[in-house]
Parts: sequence; structure tokens; C-alpha cells
Amino acid sequence: MKNLIIYYSRRGQNYVNGSVKNLSKGNAELITEYIKDAVGADVFEVDTVKPYDTDYMVCIEEAKAELRAKARPELKAYLDNISDYDNIFIVGPNWWGIYPMALYAQLERLDFTGKTVHYVVTHEGSGLGGVPKTMKTSCKGAKLGSSLAVHGGSAPSSRSQVKNWAMACL
Ligand SMILES: Cc1cc2nc3c(=O)[nH]c(=O)nc-3n(C[C@H](O)[C@H](O)[C@H](O)COP(=O)(O)O)c2cc1C
Repeated sequence: MKNLIIYYSRRGQNYVNGSVKNLSKGNAELITEYIKDAVGADVFEVDTVKPYDTDYMVCIEEAKAELRAKARPELKAYLDNISDYDNIFIVGPNWWGIYPMALYAQLERLDFTGKTVHYVVTHEGSGLGGVPKTMKTSCKGAKLGSSLAVHGGSAPSSRSQVKNWAMACL
């Protein structure tokens, strides 16, 4: 069984437990590491050509505009073939209720037929939000497996929870 993790995560200013903090490593990035350490996986990072603003308050407005426009921002690199993999883990933050548009820009290009998709959403209170619904339309052909919501402020201490979850996915 071969595993792949596709993730998006934004370092820098973010909202954590009621105040804006500077994260040297994004929460979804941390979760990605925990899954990789637990089950072994290749990793693909989704990143945009045009960076989001480093200021949290500006970034949330940029993200809101993208959501409203159903934008698919240009990515630095695209993954075009996942035929080598059996299990795909998707990891990303909750931005206004669903994953950042950049993640969908990647997922919609792939053929998930015959693959099992498990996914994690990091968040500050909204949990999985509308992500489960979007996964059905964005991961064409996938068998949807397990999902996990991780509160961003708890991400650093979630290693064993994530490990247990990821191992149970296989
Ligand atoms: C643009 C933006 C929009 C966000 N919208 C939400 C939201 O609607 N609900 C929520 O619970 N958290 C929201 N958050 C908080 C993030 O989901 C949370 O901080 C997450 O842990 C960030 O993961 P990351 O560090 O991997 O990017 C938002 C954060 C940003 C930057």
C-alpha cells in the first residue's frame, strides 16, 4: 500500500485561541508531518504563485474574495498523476468554511478512481465545516474514507491523536 499526502498550509500570522499569532510552521503542515511519521507517505505541497498577504486580516479578505469568485489560483506546481498510490490524505485549513481555493485547484485536476481519500481540516472553531460536501465533488472517483478535524491551537500536541487516526485509516 502506498500513501500520498496532499496539503496546503499557511505559515505566519494566523488566528489562534482568540488572538493573532505568528506560526513558524503551519498547523496543517504539522499534521502532515505527523501522518507521514505514522504511516509513511510521499508528500505534495500545494502552494500559490501569488502569495497571500502575510497580514492575517488582509489574508482573510483575500480568501473571502476568492471563495466568492470560486477562484482557482495558479499553483507553483501541479501534481498530475496519482496512479502509484492507494491511499491519499488531504490536509488543509478551514478557510471560511471549506478548504482554501488553492487546494481545490489541485484536487480537481486528479482522477481519484480506485483511490481511498482521507482528509484532515485544521480550524479555529468551525471543525470540518462544509469540507465533506466539497470532497465528493472535488475528488472525482474517490472512495471517501475517514475525516478528522484538528483545532489549530491543539495541532502541536496532536501527534498521538493524528498517529492513531492515520493508522486506523489503513
Ligand atoms: C483566510 C483564513 C480564513 C479562516 N477561516 C476560518 C473559518 O471560517 N473557521 C475556522 O474555524 N477557522 C478559520 N481560520 C483559521 C484556520 O482554519 C486555522 O488557524 C488553521 O489551523 C490554519 O491552518 P494552517 O496553519 O495550516 O494554515 C481561517 C484562517 C485564515 C487564514
